[in-house]
Amino acid sequence: MIICNCTLLAPYTCDPQPCGQPPIERAQDGCTPQRHFRSLRLFTLLTRRSDSRIAPTHATPAGTGRRSEESHLSFLTNYIPLILYYHMKTGGFGMNNTDKSMEKIVALCKGRGFVYSGSEIYGGLANTWDYGPLGVEFKNNVKKAWWKKFVQESPYNVGLDSAILMNPQTWVASGHIGSFNDPLMDCKDCKSRHRADKLIEDNANENNESIVVDGWEHSKMKEYIDENNIKCPKCGSANFTDIREFNLMFKTFQGVTEDSSSQIYLRPETAQGIFVNFKNIQRTSRKKIPFGVAQIGKSFRNEITPGNFIFRTREFEQMELEFFCKPGEDLEWFNYWKDYCKLWLLNLGVKEENIRMRDHEDEELSHYSKATTDIEFMFPFGWGELWGIADRTDYDLKQHSEHSGQSLEYIDPTTNEKYTPYCIEPSLGADRVVLAILVDAYDEQELEGGDSRTVLHLHPTLAPIKAAILPLSKKLNKEAFEIYENLSKKFMCEYDEAGSIGKRYRRQDEIGTPVCITFDFDSLEDNSVTIRDRDTMEQQRIKIDELEKYLEEVLVY
Ligand code: GAP
Repeated sequence: MIICNCTLLAPYTCDPQPCGQPPIERAQDGCTPQRHFRSLRLFTLLTRRSDSRIAPTHATPAGTGRRSEESHLSFLTNYIPLILYYHMKTGGFGMNNTDKSMEKIVALCKGRGFVYSGSEIYGGLANTWDYGPLGVEFKNNVKKAWWKKFVQESPYNVGLDSAILMNPQTWVASGHIGSFNDPLMDCKDCKSRHRADKLIEDNANENNESIVVDGWEHSKMKEYIDENNIKCPKCGSANFTDIREFNLMFKTFQGVTEDSSSQIYLRPETAQGIFVNFKNIQRTSRKKIPFGVAQIGKSFRNEITPGNFIFRTREFEQMELEFFCKPGEDLEWFNYWKDYCKLWLLNLGVKEENIRMRDHEDEELSHYSKATTDIEFMFPFGWGELWGIADRTDYDLKQHSEHSGQSLEYIDPTTNEKYTPYCIEPSLGADRVVLAILVDAYDEQELEGGDSRTVLHLHPTLAPIKAAILPLSKKLNKEAFEIYENLSKKFMCEYDEAGSIGKRYRRQDEIGTPVCITFDFDSLEDNSVTIRDRDTMEQQRIKIDELEKYLEEVLVY
């Protein structure tokens, strides 16, 4: 088995006989054997399931890739002893996501500086959240990991950072003015406002049923609510108004006058900034179809029912790719990006049992979509959409072409064929995936000797702090601080001299720091330090001048 470090989602197995067929063909040069796993990287073995390390099959673009019997055997013989060892050392394999409490995760985020309530000193503003010192590092690392795999290492994709405020015609063309609506109903008794589809879905969840309401007519929803005697979650009465449409776009005014001619919108998705720049990007980057454009940025939706911490908010960040391809090849690419997105999550340590792919029923599809699959994640409050992957056909480019009067067609330089490209769109919420990764990484462990700890098993590349430098005694501050100064030129580090060493380890475990570096009195003599691994809690002695190389290896992504 060759472990491939050359392509998009290292490390995974290379297909020894790439078929060379579009769309999955990729350069295999530079494929080098990946070094053996070290005990420090043990957690990745445990969090990555076997097939997470397999590339999308070249020969079967629609498939998800299957592990050979041989590699199954090698997985069992190589990793099972390590897994058992880990189990023995840490007292468990980790908690199920449904056993994790949102309250505890939110408390950890607030207490340790990941996420605070927005505008707190003024009593807050409902459902707004501010990322604190650790949160901003963590979220930036998640965005960097996405950009690395979707732009930097992609032979197909380029990036964009377009404006939030766009010409209002954009939203007429995209269909957002006409149909970006939620079905809203008010409780006549307590005046609270609800989404009809959500009332139905929540009611079904409570009865352990699964219902997908997307695509239902208003009359069907109203009938269901009446027949099932669904009550207002706030006051318990069943006295609702009729359902009406509520547009989710935030309106504002550009310039000094506040009339309809100066009315503009805060973008509800980043995608449209990509579509309106299609020609600019294609011309200036000289990209040929197939190619993609990726963008990370803020989006705004006046959600009727925001909630579940950073899961659904009115201001959020999206990481979107619009991938343009030839009509007829779209479904192949659709499958390709589905596999790719799933592998991105697995390679960052998200557990496979906590994600599932859900295909949209025909009646549920958006007006622009031919096929959509959601990657759903098991949050403590149940399965929720994490990543929407849609075949948007040529809908957007054609709409913008029609409304702007500018041709957005593509001419194939070799065949001179002229067509409007189809578009595959994997669209991921940055805040939502931050929450999913936090939930997956969160663990409470009982340790030997009756001790316990809370630990975040974050992939080292995502951890906000990469290494903590801990002098064993305050008398060693000067020398230990020198190590901090040197390492912090390259890595986000923390220097902590307060409290017992055990307490300092626990503090770092709780924020997911993969490596603790302890400087003791022997360090003065042997120029070595003790490094402690967050997941195995194993300690080893290494030379101070090897620390940088060591951390670089730990952080490989
Ligand atoms: N351009 C397509 C699009 O925006 P979407 O399914 O509406 O599709 C894509 O949104 C992703 O954006 C979702 O899967 C989710 O991760 C994230 N998202 C959507 N609304 C959100 C909200 N109110 N708060 C946080 N994340 C949200």
